[in-house]
Amino acid sequence: MVLTIIRICVHTSLMIVCVCKAVSEKHIRAAVRDGATCTRDLTRRLGLGSCCGKCLPDARRVLSDSLSAREQCTQAAAFFPGNGKGLPA
Ligand code: FES
Repeated sequence: MVLTIIRICVHTSLMIVCVCKAVSEKHIRAAVRDGATCTRDLTRRLGLGSCCGKCLPDARRVLSDSLSAREQCTQAAAFFPGNGKGLPA
């Protein structure tokens, strides 16, 4: 018997992380899905942190969470037959 645990994360929060550039958690998660791996990438893509910089600690937290979620999805995709088709990105 095989026990399979599937973790489903639903992010419905529209919390603004960077007030200066109106960047939300959703924008950061999308940037990570598109390949961003560090705050410098987020600044280049979204402008986040390019004014006062007060958003950078929260941006790092969201970035870290998003990278962890992406890694978990990558591992799940490698585990499931069909190479993870149908799994969330
Ligand atoms: S809140 Fe992000 S640069 Fe000011």
